[in-house]
Amino acid sequence: MNILVTGNLPAAVLSLLQQEHTVEFHAENRPMERSRLMEMVGDKEGLLCMITDRIDDDLLRHAPRLQAIANMAVGYDNIDVEAASRKGIPVSNTPGVLTDATADLAFALILAVARRLVEGDHMTREGGFRFWAPMYFLGHEVSRKTLGIIGLGRIGKAVARRARGFDMKVFYHTRTKLSPEQEKELGATYCDMDILLSRADFVSLHVPLTPDTHHLVGARELAMMRTSAYLINTSRGPVVDEKALLAALEKGTIAGAGLDVYEQEPDLTPGFKNLDNVVLLPHIGSATVETRTRMALKAVENLLAGLRGDRPPDCLNWENVHAGAAGKA
Ligand code: GLV
Repeated sequence: MNILVTGNLPAAVLSLLQQEHTVEFHAENRPMERSRLMEMVGDKEGLLCMITDRIDDDLLRHAPRLQAIANMAVGYDNIDVEAASRKGIPVSNTPGVLTDATADLAFALILAVARRLVEGDHMTREGGFRFWAPMYFLGHEVSRKTLGIIGLGRIGKAVARRARGFDMKVFYHTRTKLSPEQEKELGATYCDMDILLSRADFVSLHVPLTPDTHHLVGARELAMMRTSAYLINTSRGPVVDEKALLAALEKGTIAGAGLDVYEQEPDLTPGFKNLDNVVLLPHIGSATVETRTRMALKAVENLLAGLRGDRPPDCLNWENVHAGAAGKA
Protein backbone atom coordinates (compact mmCIF):
# COMPACT_ATOMS: atom_id res chain seq x y z
CA MET A 1 0.00 0.00 0.00
CA ASN A 2 1.02 3.64 -0.28
CA ILE A 3 1.85 5.60 2.84
CA LEU A 4 2.56 9.26 3.45
CA VAL A 5 4.69 10.21 6.48
CA THR A 6 4.53 13.98 7.00
CA GLY A 7 7.60 14.32 9.25
CA ASN A 8 11.15 13.24 9.73
CA LEU A 9 11.31 9.85 11.53
CA PRO A 10 14.34 7.88 12.73
CA ALA A 11 15.54 5.75 9.76
CA ALA A 12 15.23 2.48 11.70
CA VAL A 13 11.59 3.21 12.51
CA LEU A 14 10.77 4.32 8.96
CA SER A 15 12.26 1.10 7.60
CA LEU A 16 9.56 -0.89 9.46
CA LEU A 17 7.02 0.76 7.19
CA GLN A 18 9.22 0.45 4.12
CA GLN A 19 9.55 -3.33 4.60
CA GLU A 20 5.83 -3.75 3.93
CA HIS A 21 4.70 -0.70 2.01
CA THR A 22 5.67 2.07 -0.41
CA VAL A 23 6.47 5.11 1.68
CA GLU A 24 6.76 8.76 0.71
CA PHE A 25 7.98 11.00 3.49
CA HIS A 26 8.66 14.63 4.24
CA ALA A 27 12.24 14.57 5.47
CA GLU A 28 12.45 18.16 6.66
CA ASN A 29 12.39 19.53 10.18
CA ARG A 30 9.47 21.79 9.35
CA PRO A 31 5.79 21.07 8.79
CA MET A 32 4.57 20.02 5.39
CA GLU A 33 2.80 22.80 3.46
CA ARG A 34 -0.94 22.17 3.42
CA SER A 35 -1.16 22.35 -0.38
CA ARG A 36 1.58 19.74 -0.67
CA LEU A 37 -0.09 17.54 1.94
CA MET A 38 -3.39 17.76 0.03
CA GLU A 39 -1.66 16.83 -3.18
CA MET A 40 0.39 13.96 -1.76
CA VAL A 41 -2.32 12.31 0.33
CA GLY A 42 -4.53 11.81 -2.74
CA ASP A 43 -3.30 8.31 -3.66
CA LYS A 44 -2.37 7.05 -0.17
CA GLU A 45 -3.91 4.28 1.90
CA GLY A 46 -1.97 5.21 5.07
CA LEU A 47 -1.19 8.57 6.69
CA LEU A 48 1.30 9.05 9.54
CA CYS A 49 0.87 12.68 10.51
CA MET A 50 2.05 15.31 12.98
CA ILE A 51 0.21 17.81 15.20
CA THR A 52 1.13 20.52 12.70
CA ASP A 53 -1.06 18.86 10.01
CA ARG A 54 -4.75 19.76 10.03
CA ILE A 55 -6.64 16.62 9.11
CA ASP A 56 -10.17 17.86 8.46
CA ASP A 57 -13.12 16.98 6.25
CA ASP A 58 -11.64 18.93 3.37
CA LEU A 59 -8.36 17.00 3.50
CA LEU A 60 -10.19 13.69 3.84
CA ARG A 61 -12.17 14.48 0.68
CA HIS A 62 -8.82 14.66 -1.11
CA ALA A 63 -7.85 11.23 0.22
CA PRO A 64 -10.47 8.77 -1.04
CA ARG A 65 -8.22 5.71 -0.55
CA LEU A 66 -7.23 6.40 3.05
CA GLN A 67 -7.63 3.39 5.36
CA ALA A 68 -5.72 4.45 8.50
CA ILE A 69 -4.44 7.63 10.15
CA ALA A 70 -1.76 7.54 12.86
CA ASN A 71 -0.99 10.80 14.66
CA MET A 72 2.51 11.00 16.14
CA ALA A 73 1.31 12.76 19.31
CA VAL A 74 -0.89 12.08 22.27
CA GLY A 75 -3.01 15.20 21.58
CA TYR A 76 -5.20 14.90 18.50
CA ASP A 77 -7.00 18.23 18.33
CA ASN A 78 -5.47 18.60 14.85
CA ILE A 79 -7.68 15.76 13.56
CA ASP A 80 -11.42 15.79 12.95
CA VAL A 81 -11.89 12.29 14.36
CA GLU A 82 -15.64 12.36 13.71
CA ALA A 83 -15.11 13.11 10.03
CA ALA A 84 -12.62 10.21 9.84
CA SER A 85 -15.11 7.90 11.60
CA ARG A 86 -17.81 8.83 9.08
CA LYS A 87 -15.44 7.70 6.37
CA GLY A 88 -14.63 4.46 8.24
CA ILE A 89 -11.00 5.45 8.90
CA PRO A 90 -9.43 4.41 12.21
CA VAL A 91 -7.42 7.18 13.89
CA SER A 92 -4.75 6.55 16.53
CA ASN A 93 -2.47 8.58 18.80
CA THR A 94 0.62 7.77 20.93
CA PRO A 95 -0.38 7.78 24.61
CA GLY A 96 1.85 6.63 27.45
CA VAL A 97 5.27 6.93 25.85
CA LEU A 98 5.63 10.68 26.35
CA THR A 99 4.27 10.95 29.88
CA ASP A 100 7.59 11.26 31.70
CA ALA A 101 9.22 13.58 29.17
CA THR A 102 6.26 15.98 29.32
CA ALA A 103 5.97 15.84 33.11
CA ASP A 104 9.72 16.50 33.35
CA LEU A 105 9.32 19.55 31.14
CA ALA A 106 6.43 20.88 33.24
CA PHE A 107 8.65 20.56 36.28
CA ALA A 108 11.57 22.13 34.46
CA LEU A 109 9.32 25.13 33.73
CA ILE A 110 8.23 25.34 37.37
CA LEU A 111 11.85 25.45 38.48
CA ALA A 112 12.99 27.70 35.65
CA VAL A 113 10.39 30.38 36.22
CA ALA A 114 10.49 30.31 40.03
CA ARG A 115 14.29 30.35 40.24
CA ARG A 116 14.74 32.71 37.26
CA LEU A 117 17.02 30.30 35.41
CA VAL A 118 16.68 31.74 31.93
CA GLU A 119 16.99 35.33 33.11
CA GLY A 120 20.08 34.36 35.14
CA ASP A 121 21.65 32.55 32.20
CA HIS A 122 21.17 35.56 29.91
CA MET A 123 22.60 37.94 32.47
CA THR A 124 25.61 35.74 33.19
CA ARG A 125 26.42 35.34 29.48
CA GLU A 126 26.26 39.08 29.05
CA GLY A 127 28.84 39.60 31.80
CA GLY A 128 26.29 40.84 34.34
CA PHE A 129 27.36 38.46 37.16
CA ARG A 130 29.73 40.59 39.25
CA PHE A 131 29.27 39.39 42.85
CA TRP A 132 27.40 37.15 45.27
CA ALA A 133 25.20 39.14 47.62
CA PRO A 134 22.57 38.15 50.17
CA MET A 135 19.63 39.78 48.42
CA TYR A 136 20.86 39.36 44.87
CA PHE A 137 18.78 37.66 42.14
CA LEU A 138 16.25 36.11 44.46
CA GLY A 139 13.59 33.83 43.12
CA HIS A 140 11.00 31.78 44.97
CA GLU A 141 11.25 28.39 46.57
CA VAL A 142 9.50 25.40 44.99
CA SER A 143 9.88 22.94 47.87
CA ARG A 144 6.87 22.71 50.18
CA LYS A 145 4.76 25.02 48.01
CA THR A 146 1.25 24.24 46.72
CA LEU A 147 0.83 22.81 43.24
CA GLY A 148 -2.56 22.88 41.50
CA ILE A 149 -2.86 20.38 38.66
CA ILE A 150 -5.71 20.89 36.21
CA GLY A 151 -6.35 17.66 34.27
CA LEU A 152 -5.21 14.50 35.97
CA GLY A 153 -4.55 12.07 33.12
CA ARG A 154 -1.26 10.24 32.73
CA ILE A 155 0.81 13.42 32.51
CA GLY A 156 -0.98 15.24 35.34
CA LYS A 157 -0.39 12.22 37.58
CA ALA A 158 3.28 12.07 36.63
CA VAL A 159 3.60 15.75 37.58
CA ALA A 160 1.95 14.98 40.94
CA ARG A 161 4.48 12.19 41.55
CA ARG A 162 7.36 14.55 40.83
CA ALA A 163 5.89 17.10 43.25
CA ARG A 164 6.21 14.60 46.09
CA GLY A 165 9.97 14.75 45.76
CA PHE A 166 9.68 18.48 46.48
CA ASP A 167 7.38 17.93 49.48
CA MET A 168 4.71 19.97 47.72
CA LYS A 169 1.07 20.02 48.70
CA VAL A 170 -0.83 18.88 45.60
CA PHE A 171 -4.42 19.75 44.65
CA TYR A 172 -5.99 18.58 41.42
CA HIS A 173 -9.09 19.31 39.41
CA THR A 174 -10.34 16.83 36.83
CA ARG A 175 -13.60 15.48 35.41
CA THR A 176 -13.40 12.16 37.25
CA LYS A 177 -12.37 12.38 40.87
CA LEU A 178 -9.97 9.69 42.13
CA SER A 179 -11.04 7.30 44.86
CA PRO A 180 -9.75 8.13 48.38
CA GLU A 181 -7.23 5.26 48.04
CA GLN A 182 -5.95 6.59 44.70
CA GLU A 183 -5.73 10.11 46.12
CA LYS A 184 -3.72 8.81 49.05
CA GLU A 185 -1.39 6.84 46.82
CA LEU A 186 -0.76 9.85 44.60
CA GLY A 187 -0.63 12.33 47.48
CA ALA A 188 -3.11 14.65 45.75
CA THR A 189 -6.41 16.14 46.92
CA TYR A 190 -9.36 16.99 44.66
CA CYS A 191 -10.69 20.52 44.71
CA ASP A 192 -12.94 22.82 42.71
CA MET A 193 -11.15 24.69 39.98
CA ASP A 194 -11.79 28.12 41.54
CA ILE A 195 -10.49 26.97 44.91
CA LEU A 196 -7.47 25.35 43.29
CA LEU A 197 -6.71 28.60 41.44
CA SER A 198 -6.93 30.64 44.63
CA ARG A 199 -4.73 28.27 46.66
CA ALA A 200 -1.94 27.24 44.31
CA ASP A 201 1.55 28.71 44.13
CA PHE A 202 1.92 26.89 40.79
CA VAL A 203 -0.96 26.00 38.48
CA SER A 204 -0.03 23.40 35.85
CA LEU A 205 -2.33 22.53 32.94
CA HIS A 206 -2.66 18.96 31.67
CA VAL A 207 -5.99 18.82 29.82
CA PRO A 208 -6.50 17.95 26.15
CA LEU A 209 -7.73 20.76 23.89
CA THR A 210 -11.45 20.30 23.23
CA PRO A 211 -14.33 22.78 22.81
CA ASP A 212 -14.81 22.48 26.61
CA THR A 213 -11.22 23.36 27.49
CA HIS A 214 -10.74 26.18 24.98
CA HIS A 215 -9.81 29.27 27.09
CA LEU A 216 -10.32 27.25 30.27
CA VAL A 217 -7.96 29.76 31.87
CA GLY A 218 -9.05 33.29 30.96
CA ALA A 219 -9.20 36.68 32.67
CA ARG A 220 -11.62 35.45 35.36
CA GLU A 221 -9.46 32.46 36.28
CA LEU A 222 -6.23 34.46 36.21
CA ALA A 223 -7.80 37.01 38.55
CA MET A 224 -8.43 34.20 41.05
CA MET A 225 -4.77 33.23 41.16
CA ARG A 226 -2.50 34.65 43.82
CA THR A 227 -0.25 37.55 42.87
CA SER A 228 2.67 35.29 43.87
CA ALA A 229 1.49 32.36 41.68
CA TYR A 230 2.89 30.99 38.43
CA LEU A 231 0.98 29.43 35.51
CA ILE A 232 2.60 26.51 33.68
CA ASN A 233 1.24 25.31 30.32
CA THR A 234 2.60 22.23 28.58
CA SER A 235 -0.80 21.13 27.20
CA ARG A 236 -2.16 23.16 24.27
CA GLY A 237 -1.93 26.91 23.74
CA PRO A 238 -5.65 27.63 23.26
CA VAL A 239 -6.42 26.22 26.74
CA VAL A 240 -5.24 29.64 27.94
CA ASP A 241 -6.56 32.99 26.73
CA GLU A 242 -3.13 34.32 25.83
CA LYS A 243 -4.18 38.00 25.69
CA ALA A 244 -5.63 37.75 29.20
CA LEU A 245 -2.43 36.02 30.37
CA LEU A 246 -0.26 38.73 28.87
CA ALA A 247 -2.36 41.40 30.61
CA ALA A 248 -2.08 39.57 33.95
CA LEU A 249 1.70 39.26 33.60
CA GLU A 250 2.11 42.90 32.57
CA LYS A 251 -0.04 44.14 35.45
CA GLY A 252 1.66 41.76 37.89
CA THR A 253 -1.59 40.15 39.01
CA ILE A 254 0.27 36.81 38.79
CA ALA A 255 4.02 36.35 39.32
CA GLY A 256 4.99 34.61 36.12
CA ALA A 257 4.39 31.85 33.59
CA GLY A 258 6.21 28.94 32.01
CA LEU A 259 4.88 28.20 28.53
CA ASP A 260 5.69 25.46 26.05
CA VAL A 261 2.61 25.99 23.86
CA TYR A 262 0.86 28.99 22.31
CA GLU A 263 -2.51 29.94 20.91
CA GLN A 264 -1.25 30.58 17.38
CA GLU A 265 1.81 28.36 17.22
CA PRO A 266 4.52 29.13 16.29
CA ASP A 267 3.56 32.81 16.62
CA LEU A 268 3.81 34.55 19.96
CA THR A 269 1.33 37.15 21.13
CA PRO A 270 3.42 40.33 20.88
CA GLY A 271 4.48 41.43 24.35
CA PHE A 272 5.54 38.08 25.85
CA LYS A 273 9.07 38.37 24.63
CA ASN A 274 9.57 41.62 26.54
CA LEU A 275 8.73 40.07 29.90
CA ASP A 276 11.37 38.68 32.29
CA ASN A 277 8.82 36.72 34.31
CA VAL A 278 7.96 34.25 31.55
CA VAL A 279 9.95 31.29 30.28
CA LEU A 280 9.07 30.52 26.66
CA LEU A 281 9.84 27.16 25.07
CA PRO A 282 9.19 25.96 21.49
CA HIS A 283 6.67 23.11 22.14
CA ILE A 284 9.25 20.55 23.28
CA GLY A 285 7.30 18.59 25.91
CA SER A 286 8.02 15.26 24.26
CA ALA A 287 11.23 16.30 22.52
CA THR A 288 13.81 13.80 23.74
CA VAL A 289 15.58 11.31 21.50
CA GLU A 290 14.17 8.44 23.55
CA THR A 291 10.57 9.67 23.63
CA ARG A 292 10.35 10.77 20.01
CA THR A 293 11.74 7.37 18.95
CA ARG A 294 9.07 5.62 21.04
CA MET A 295 6.35 7.89 19.62
CA ALA A 296 7.46 7.19 16.05
CA LEU A 297 7.48 3.45 16.76
CA LYS A 298 4.03 3.57 18.30
CA ALA A 299 2.64 5.56 15.36
CA VAL A 300 4.15 3.01 12.93
CA GLU A 301 2.69 0.06 14.87
CA ASN A 302 -0.72 1.73 14.90
CA LEU A 303 -0.58 2.48 11.18
CA LEU A 304 0.54 -1.04 10.23
CA ALA A 305 -2.30 -2.56 12.27
CA GLY A 306 -4.87 -0.19 10.71
CA LEU A 307 -3.68 -1.05 7.20
CA ARG A 308 -4.00 -4.77 7.96
CA GLY A 309 -7.61 -4.10 8.97
CA ASP A 310 -6.80 -4.83 12.63
CA ARG A 311 -7.67 -2.53 15.50
CA PRO A 312 -4.68 -0.20 16.03
CA PRO A 313 -3.52 -0.58 19.66
CA ASP A 314 -4.19 3.11 20.34
CA CYS A 315 -7.28 3.53 18.18
CA LEU A 316 -9.45 6.50 19.16
CA ASN A 317 -12.58 5.68 17.15
CA TRP A 318 -12.77 1.91 16.52
CA GLU A 319 -16.39 1.58 17.70
CA ASN A 320 -17.46 4.61 15.67
CA VAL A 321 -15.66 3.40 12.56
CA HIS A 322 -17.55 0.14 12.82
CA ALA A 323 -20.84 1.83 13.66
CA GLY A 324 -20.37 3.90 10.48
CA ALA A 325 -19.64 0.79 8.43
CA ALA A 326 -22.67 -1.02 9.87
CA GLY A 327 -24.80 2.03 9.04
CA LYS A 328 -23.59 1.95 5.43
CA ALA A 329 -24.20 -1.80 5.03
C1 GLV B 1 2.48 16.86 21.71
O1 GLV B 1 2.18 17.99 21.92
C2 GLV B 1 1.62 15.74 21.83
O2 GLV B 1 0.39 15.92 21.96
O3 GLV B 1 2.11 14.61 21.78
